Order: sequence, then structure tokens, then C-alpha cells
Amino acid sequence: MERTFVMVKPDGVGRGLVGECIRRYEAKGLKLVGLKMQILTRELAGKHYAEHLGKPFYEELIAFITSGPTVQMVWEGRDAVAQVRRMNGATNCLAADPGTIRGDFGLSNQKNIVHASDAVETAAREIGLYFAPSELVSYAVPGEEWRR
Ligand code: PPS
Repeated sequence: MERTFVMVKPDGVGRGLVGECIRRYEAKGLKLVGLKMQILTRELAGKHYAEHLGKPFYEELIAFITSGPTVQMVWEGRDAVAQVRRMNGATNCLAADPGTIRGDFGLSNQKNIVHASDAVETAAREIGLYFAPSELVSYAVPGEEWRR
């Protein structure tokens, strides 16, 4: 079963949208298998966004993501990576469709509430950055056959 990494960013935590994000992923039928909260160090933020080093928005991005508490999650389910990206919406909240998290709750490009992995390989790397294997929980929930 596919897994993806999701992080509620400081604006999402500060605006009280953690529960809303979790509610949507749960309602979709995805399963929460990892969860933690932390203020990112600059070092960890740098590892997370390593591919953007050198881009004009890099420093702004690191300053923002380290500016307050964040929530890390791992969600599991069929096509989890693509489905969560669709549910989050376009990077720029102004371009995100209504019905997506960013389309429903944001007006900003930088402060876009939530991050999610863009590919299965990225998800594996990002999950490994934030979670030890022992912190991910494999479990069965009743009625799983109805979600497939
Ligand atoms: S790129 O160049 O196409 O790869 O960039 P993009 O995918 O649009 O964005 C990558 C992440 O950088 C964030 N971003 C910004 N942060 C701060 N300020 C500015 N101006 C800015 N522009 C883009 C964007 O939200 C992406 O973060 P994640 O966490 O991956 O959603």
C-alpha cells in the first residue's frame, strides 16, 4: 500500500487547520500511520527543501517553515501520493481549486498551509527524514475492504 508524507506548515498550525486537514484525509479513506509535531531546525528544513537551494525564494521558504510549529504525518492508502496532492490543490492558493485545502482556506503563495510529497520516491525520502521505521504503525481497521 502506498504511503505519502504530509506536513502542516506554521500557518496551518497557527490558524487551527490541523484537524481540518486530518479530517479530510481520513474522510477520503486514507489511514494515518505516523504523526508528530515539532519546530523545524534550520538544518532539517535545509534537508527537506534541498532541491530548492539557490532558488530566489529559498531563504524566504526556510525562514517561513522554521517560524513556528509544524505537524508531520504519514498517510497510507491506494494512490496516496497523487490523491493527497490533488486534495491539497495548486501550490499558489490563489490558483487552487475550490474544494482543495489551499483553495478553500488560503490566499497566499508562500503560506499555503500544507506540504505533501510529489512522488513515491520523494515520499520515501521525506518519511525517512522525519520518522524512524519504529514510529510508523501498521494496523488493520475494520471495514478496510470498503475503501479499496
Ligand atoms: S519549483 O521551483 O517549481 O520547484 O517551486 P514550487 O514547486 O512552486 O515550490 C516549491 C516549494 O517552495 C514554496 N514556495 C515558496 N515559499 C516561499 N516563498 C515563495 N515565494 C515561494 N514560492 C514557492 C512552495 O510552497 C513549495 O513548498 P512545498 O512545501 O513543497 O509546498
